[in-house]
Amino acid sequence: MQSPLASAPILFFDSGLGGLTVLGPTRALLPTAPIVYAADYAGLPYGRKSDEELAARVPALLGRLVERYQPRLAVIACNTASTIALGHVRAALDLPIVGTVPAIKPAAEMTKTGVIGVLGTEATVRQPYVDDLSVRFAGGKTVLRHGSPGLVTGAEAKLRGDAVDPSVIARAIAGLRDQPGGDAIDVIVLACTHFPLLKDELQAAAGLDVNLIDGAAGIAKRIAYLTDGQAWPDTPPPGVAVFTRCDDRPPPLLAALTPYGIGAIETI
Ligand code: DGL
Repeated sequence: MQSPLASAPILFFDSGLGGLTVLGPTRALLPTAPIVYAADYAGLPYGRKSDEELAARVPALLGRLVERYQPRLAVIACNTASTIALGHVRAALDLPIVGTVPAIKPAAEMTKTGVIGVLGTEATVRQPYVDDLSVRFAGGKTVLRHGSPGLVTGAEAKLRGDAVDPSVIARAIAGLRDQPGGDAIDVIVLACTHFPLLKDELQAAAGLDVNLIDGAAGIAKRIAYLTDGQAWPDTPPPGVAVFTRCDDRPPPLLAALTPYGIGAIETI
């Protein structure tokens, strides 16, 4: 395959701003990479959509984005979209696609009690993909799951500078702790890219003896590996955010995105 032009961007894709938690560590490794950050606000929250809807929506939207921005690589920075649609996207598009899947493997290596919590969206925690990861990497351990749509709303609110409802945080942790065996959880997998935006709040609610982990650093390394040796601009060009707007949820202002190197907002 011909080496991409230095100006070809990396495309990040999420239902909202959660994917910024993957963009952050990627920029640390690839500081001059051109970035397009796509948020499907017209479809948020993905966690409440059916598998069928997401399996159709995500590849179609990514197809339009790839056509418009001609990225060198696309990152599905969303656990819900990845666990449901990664295979469909890879089959439909002819470029490297990096997915985001729950960090159950490192959690299983880290737990001392043998009890792991997985906090994701409702759609992610019901996926056979998560059953499969648990069987492959956490055999003999207990994997408890809980889906929390409130944390997605809370994370979006926090990034816009709004207050986060503390009861949402407490309910999310209780959703794991109150299950049989939940008292022994010593590692919680943040299996939604929105949730690391609330890490401090979740850590305070879970207690300092619980490790909260996510896969963002590993995904950033994977992106760097897959683009190793490619040409990059000498200085970082301003990143572009692209939103599929909807009327009842105004998308964030540029101010929330500038710390991530984004300098313009477009719509698709
Ligand atoms: N950020 C997404 C994830 O990682 C989902 C948020 C949503 O429900 O739209 O699963």
